[in-house]
Amino acid sequence: MKEFKEKVALITGAAHGFGRALSLEAAKRGMKLAIADIDDEALSKTKTDIKDLGADVISIPTDVTDEDEVDAMVKKTVAEYHEIDLLINSAGIAVPGGICELPTRDWEWILHADLMSQVWALKRVIPIMRKQKDHCDIINVASIAGLVASPSMPSYFASKFASVGLTEAVEYDMQVAKANISMHVFCPAFVQTDLYHTENHRPAKYTDKNDPYYSSEAFKEGQERAKQDIVTGMPIDKIPGIVFKALEENKFYILTHTGLNPIIVSRAENIPSGKGPELKTLAPFLSKTHNEEN
Ligand SMILES: NC(=O)c1ccc[n+]([C@@H]2O[C@H](COP(=O)([O-])OP(=O)(O)OC[C@H]3O[C@@H](n4cnc5c(N)ncnc54)[C@H](O)[C@@H]3O)[C@@H](O)[C@H]2O)c1
Repeated sequence: MKEFKEKVALITGAAHGFGRALSLEAAKRGMKLAIADIDDEALSKTKTDIKDLGADVISIPTDVTDEDEVDAMVKKTVAEYHEIDLLINSAGIAVPGGICELPTRDWEWILHADLMSQVWALKRVIPIMRKQKDHCDIINVASIAGLVASPSMPSYFASKFASVGLTEAVEYDMQVAKANISMHVFCPAFVQTDLYHTENHRPAKYTDKNDPYYSSEAFKEGQERAKQDIVTGMPIDKIPGIVFKALEENKFYILTHTGLNPIIVSRAENIPSGKGPELKTLAPFLSKTHNEEN
């Protein structure tokens, strides 16, 4: 997509972080916005800020872990604007915890919030886009964690690898179908968002205050580590420029931290020889996941 003016963007996770920053950028570029999030209050603030920029906007309170709510979100967008030119699936969460510690309920939460929400939106938005004349774009927000793994949060890596695989496979399907849709997968390393506030967005169905894991040192340490990683990340104001430039250039993979490119390459090169993950080769790069220029 090169021309944004008057086009319609549906953006999830728009109350905070990437979703909010990309919604404001879309508004500045003259797009009409449908914004969705589970955090009604903060979503209203994004809506007000978009209106102040002079753009059309509707806000749709949505819990993306509920397929019916995703369905309603898409229907409300089409009822208002009659089309969707850009979908950005940015709603997401991260919960710390090792394979033996993290409750199964949290695996379900993250797989629904970070993966199935994208599946449910694609199933509904692609048929709408295919009926439209102009070229359309879809960005799934995954992570560098969808291209290379590292220790301590297997649920996060599993959901992000799945999001990357989903986006690649659907891109192939769009090419086979000669569809008017370009898929993109956004794979940032650490960026200063509100991601470490994930607990504020936990739906009741994934809550069990009696589970001892949530009062364990492992959980508290994991939360503190996540906070440190995020608050020392790349400033969020660099992100809209990176993402919209990638849209203009029709890039499939949208990356933020070029210093990490060698580990992406090394993982791919190791696969044919059967060589697996080794902590000692990852270690030098772990510090580069932070505030590094693109
Ligand atoms: N910040 C980073 O360093 C980073 C790096 C790589 C990938 N990501 C990914 O980016 C995505 C967006 O995260 P962010 O960093 O902008 O964090 P964020 O917390 O600032 O924004 C996430 C948004 O999603 C919303 N949300 C959470 N659960 C929801 C639900 N069930 N229904 C609807 N909305 C929901 C939150 O309310 C919030 O507004 C996530 O998938 C995250 O994994 C973030």
